[in-house]
Amino acid sequence: MSEYKIAVIPGDGIGKEVVREACKVLDSSARKNNFKLNYESFNWGSDFYFKNNKMMPENGLQILSDFDAIFLGAVGHPKIQDHITLNGLLLPIRRKFDQFVCLRPSVLFEGVESPLTGMNPGEIDLVVVRENTEGEYANVGGFQYENFDDEIAIQSSVFTRKGTERVIRYSFDLAMDRSKKLTSITKSNAQGYSMVLWDKVFSEVSKDYPEVSTNSLLIDAACMDFIRKPSDFDVVVASNLFGDILTDIAAMITGGLGLASSGNISEDRSNPSMFEPTHGSAPDIEGKNIANPLAQILTAAMMLSHLGENIAADSIREAVKIVLKTRNKLTTDLGGNASTTECAEEVISNLQ
Ligand code: NAD
Ligand code: IPM
Ligand code: MN
Repeated sequence: MSEYKIAVIPGDGIGKEVVREACKVLDSSARKNNFKLNYESFNWGSDFYFKNNKMMPENGLQILSDFDAIFLGAVGHPKIQDHITLNGLLLPIRRKFDQFVCLRPSVLFEGVESPLTGMNPGEIDLVVVRENTEGEYANVGGFQYENFDDEIAIQSSVFTRKGTERVIRYSFDLAMDRSKKLTSITKSNAQGYSMVLWDKVFSEVSKDYPEVSTNSLLIDAACMDFIRKPSDFDVVVASNLFGDILTDIAAMITGGLGLASSGNISEDRSNPSMFEPTHGSAPDIEGKNIANPLAQILTAAMMLSHLGENIAADSIREAVKIVLKTRNKLTTDLGGNASTTECAEEVISNLQ
């Protein structure tokens, strides 16, 4: 029987609630498909910070390096500045394990109403490949004359040829497996260095994939077209910040953040990849057991695919589709009145 070591970090807010439920789905799926998930749960996050003045222990990253995958809920607390929580836990994991691809699929499933009129199930089916370790998120910069009248903040973006090329190549490979259509998101009209390099690398790599039809769109126009004609998109590759913003739009047009799954993928299999939904800790609804667990559950399916348990992963996705289609036990964000727990139980009862 295959066994996998999974580091579970529920984190903050609704992260704790949706991870709890998604782990029940994973357990049920593992039993049915004859593999074993050995979890170790870490109480890292904002509560840990209140006690220890840090988000995880000093050797936290070293501890995680032993696992086959990391399953994370969300990080962020209204009483702590976000740059402290996120730079103390989530972002260092993405960087340390070189999880340079952030994969974010968005599908309009049957039973889900898009806020866009006239959209039928399946008419939106796209995946954003977000660069995940550099770009606008490079932790480079500083303050000068901090807290004085003339204070200065410098935040530098870092775009390397290596970092740009590998995420673009990954996107072309993905496009070859899908409908051979790839859109690159740029802003080279204003960002005359970083995005010019991005465009140049995209054009060079495209020569290795003559079968893939490509286009390049400015980020502002892409935001518009995700709303105006989302069916035009299939695989979309974007820098770290552009991908972050676009994937909230992609989530909204396909039913909201409660359905948006995400994986931070390291191609080097000796590093663990990390699976966490696109949404955050949602302090506005935390502790009420009303958060939608389906994003975390679809994220769990993504983790199983990554581990090679494809049959189990597909059966979780199918069960989620049935729950959406029948609209039985949906949470309030999708127009139902079920709790987080009831929704997850409904997924479990539909698992093959
Ligand atoms: P958010 O994603 O937490 O919430 C945005 C809105 O969507 C809220 O109204 C929330 O109630 C709703 N929502 C989100 N997930 C939902 C779910 N599963 N079911 C139902 N409704 C859901 O974004 P925010 O409010 O901008 O950020 C809150 C905190 O989370 C901040 O501290 C932020 O930095 C952090 N954050 C963390 C991550 C992460 O850990 N990956 C991602 C985004 C934001
Ligand atoms: C996401 C989140 C994070 C990001 C934040 C919390 C740092 O918004 O995963 O989309 O910007 O990457
Ligand atoms: Mn985001």
